[in-house]
Amino acid sequence: MVKPLVRRILLPIALLILFYTAFCNTPVVLQPSAQYPDHFGKHQEPLHVPIRPPFVNKSRTWDHLAAVDRFTSNVESKPVELEISDQDSETARVPAPLILGVPHNSLRSIPQALLGQLECPRAPNRFTNHIRLPNLLYNISMSPRSAVSREERTFWNPTIFALPYWAKNQYIIVSMVTPDGEALRRNVLCEANICRPKSAASRLTHERSCSEDDLGLLGPSGGLRCVTAPIEVIVPPTPAAKCEGREQVFADMPGFHDPRIFYSGRGEPILMVSSQSQYACIGLWAIDLRAVYPELEGTIASSPKRLGPGPVMSYPTLTELTRSPASSRGSYEKNWVMFSPSSSSSYLQYELNSSSRTIAQLIGGGLTTPNITDTLEEPCLRDLTIEEIEGSHYNESSTWHQATPSLKLVLCSRSNSTCNPETADTVFFAIIQRKNVNALGLPVRYERFVVVWSAVPPFNMLAVSRHPILMANETTSGWTAEESWDDVQDALLENRELWGRITYTTTIAYAWGREEKDVREKGTGHLDDDVILSIGVDDEGQVYARVKVSELLQCLRVCPGREQAHFDD
Ligand SMILES: *[C@@H]1O[C@H](CO)[C@@H](O)[C@H](O)[C@H]1NC(C)=O
Ligand SMILES: *[C@@H]1O[C@H](CO)[C@@H](O)[C@H](O)[C@H]1NC(C)=O
Ligand SMILES: *[C@@H]1O[C@H](CO)[C@@H](O)[C@H](O)[C@H]1NC(C)=O
Ligand SMILES: *[C@@H]1O[C@H](CO)[C@@H](O)[C@H](O)[C@H]1NC(C)=O
Ligand SMILES: *[C@@H]1O[C@H](CO)[C@@H](O)[C@H](O)[C@H]1NC(C)=O
Ligand SMILES: *[C@@H]1O[C@H](CO)[C@@H](O)[C@H](O)[C@H]1NC(C)=O
Ligand SMILES: *[C@@H]1O[C@H](CO)[C@@H](O)[C@H](O)[C@H]1NC(C)=O
Repeated sequence: MVKPLVRRILLPIALLILFYTAFCNTPVVLQPSAQYPDHFGKHQEPLHVPIRPPFVNKSRTWDHLAAVDRFTSNVESKPVELEISDQDSETARVPAPLILGVPHNSLRSIPQALLGQLECPRAPNRFTNHIRLPNLLYNISMSPRSAVSREERTFWNPTIFALPYWAKNQYIIVSMVTPDGEALRRNVLCEANICRPKSAASRLTHERSCSEDDLGLLGPSGGLRCVTAPIEVIVPPTPAAKCEGREQVFADMPGFHDPRIFYSGRGEPILMVSSQSQYACIGLWAIDLRAVYPELEGTIASSPKRLGPGPVMSYPTLTELTRSPASSRGSYEKNWVMFSPSSSSSYLQYELNSSSRTIAQLIGGGLTTPNITDTLEEPCLRDLTIEEIEGSHYNESSTWHQATPSLKLVLCSRSNSTCNPETADTVFFAIIQRKNVNALGLPVRYERFVVVWSAVPPFNMLAVSRHPILMANETTSGWTAEESWDDVQDALLENRELWGRITYTTTIAYAWGREEKDVREKGTGHLDDDVILSIGVDDEGQVYARVKVSELLQCLRVCPGREQAHFDD
C-alpha cells in the first residue's frame, strides 16, 4: 500500500523539479555522478519512477499518447516503472512526462512559422535536381599560426562546434587524420578561428581579418584555421563483445571513428564516437569533451552572465549508448542522433528512413527507454521512384543515413522584437544523406537533405527538404560538369570542372558570436542565426559552409499527415 502513495508524491515532485530546471536560471546543484560501473545499472540501487500520466485519454486521435499506450498495454494497465539510477545526473531530474497537455490541433499541424519555409528560392538544377545555395565552401587549415613547421598530414570528416562567445577562440575542430598506412585511427582536436579577407571582414563586426599567411594557407576567401596545435584525442579503447563474419575485421581495429561534437540541452559539450561495442561489434559511445580536453572546463564555466560551475557531466567517462530492448540492436550500429528538448531530457533517434523511425529517451548512464516513436506517424522520407532508378543516375539500393547532430530551433528571428523564445514554436533539425551506391555497393555520392521534427513529444517529423542541397561551388558526382553547373552561368562560361567526388556532411552547429546568456543556449538558435556545416571531401579533405538557418531550411516539403495549420482553424 506504500507504492501508490509514493507515486502520488513522486510525480508532483518530479514535475516541480522539471518546472524548476526548465524555467529557472539558477543552477541546480546535483550530485556529480562519479563513475559509472562497468556494467550499466547492474550494481546500482534503482530508483523507481512511474512514468504513467495522471490521466490517459484513450482516444486514438490523441496520438501523442500512443507511445504511452504502448508502454502500458503490455503490462495490462499497470504503470510501467523505469529502472533509473539515482547516481546519474541526467535522471536525477526525472524523464519528462510524455504528456504535456498539448492541444490536439497543434499535433496534427505544422507550426505556422514553418509555412514560410516551404518556398524554394530558385528552381532546382534541371539535370541533377539539386537546389544550390549561394554560400561558398571554405577551406580549413590545421596548421596553427604559431607552428614552426606546416602541418603535413591530411584530415577528413571534421566535426566543428562553436565555443561560447566569451571564449578566447571561436571554434573547436575534431578531425580524423587520413590514415597513412597504419591501422590506428587518429583524431586530433584544436581551437580555431575563422578569418575573412580584409575587404570582406567588415561585413560582420566580430569577424577577424586574415593575415597574408592565413590567405596563403586557406585561399583567397579565408576560412577556418587552428590557433592551438592539434592534439590527439585520446579516449580509452573499448573491447568488442562479438564481431562475426564480414565484421571480424572490426574486432581489433584500434581507435574510434566518426566523432561528432555537439551541446546537450544542459550545455554539456559532448563527443559521440563509434567504437567497439560491449554488446555487439560496433556501437556508439558518449563522453563529455571536458573530460577529453580539460582546457574546455574553465571556458564553459566562465559565463559572464551566470555564476557557478559549468553543467554537471552526464558522461564523465566513455559511456556506451544502448537500445532497449537489447534484441533490437544491430551488431554494427552507427549514425545515432541525440536531441535535447529541455535541459533535463535527451533522446536518441536511432534511425530514420522511408519506412521506419526509432526514437527513445535517454534515462541515464547511456540507458534508454524502449522505442517511443508515434505509431501513427506516416513516413516522411521518400525512396527513389521507378523512373529515377531506371534512369542512369541512381541505383535502387540507395539508403538514408542520419549524418549530423541535431540543433534546436526557435521558429522566429532573434532580430525580431516580438519573437519570444518562451512562446514561439520550437523544432529540431538535422542533416541526413541519401547514399547512392554503384554496382559494387560502393558510395557514388551523398545527397544532403534537411529534416525537421517537432520539439514537443512525440517529436513528430514535420518536414524535409524537397531537393538535395549543394553549396555555391560544389558539384555532385553522377553528372557531367556541364550538367552539374547548369544552374551557374559563370561556371558554365569558365568551363568549370567537377570538384570533389564525395562530400559528406558530418556536423551542424550554430556559428560563433551570438551573445548567449548561458551555455545551455549553445544548441538552440533562431531563424536568423548562422549554422556551420562541417564537410568531409573524398576521405581526404575538409571544408565548411556557413549558412543562415532560414536559408538552409527552405524549400521544405511538409510530411504526410501534417496538415498545414490554416486548415485547422
Ligand atoms: C478524449 O479525447 C477525445 C478526442 O479529443 C474527446 O472527444 C473526448 O471527450 C476525450 N475524453 C475525455 C474523457 O476527456
Ligand atoms: C569550393 O570550395 C572549396 C573549399 O574552399 C575549394 O577547395 C574548391 O576548390 C572550390 N570548388 C570550386 C569548384 O571552385
Ligand atoms: C581553397 O583552397 C584551394 C586551393 O587548395 C583554392 O583553390 C580555393 O580557392 C580555396 N577556397 C576558398 C573559398 O578560398
Ligand atoms: C529502414 O530502417 C529499418 C531499421 O533499420 C530497416 O529494417 C529497413 O529495412 C529500412 N527500410 C528501408 C526502406 O531502407
Ligand atoms: C519504433 O516504432 C515505430 C512506430 O511504431 C516503428 O515504425 C519502428 O519500426 C519501431 N522501431 C523498431 C526498431 O521497432
Ligand atoms: C516578427 O515575429 C512575428 C511573430 O513572432 C511575426 O508575425 C512577424 O512577421 C515577424 N516580423 C518580421 C519582420 O519578420
Ligand atoms: C548502378 O548499378 C549498375 C549495375 O547494377 C551500374 O552499371 C551502374 O553504374 C550503377 N549506377 C550508378 C549511378 O552508380
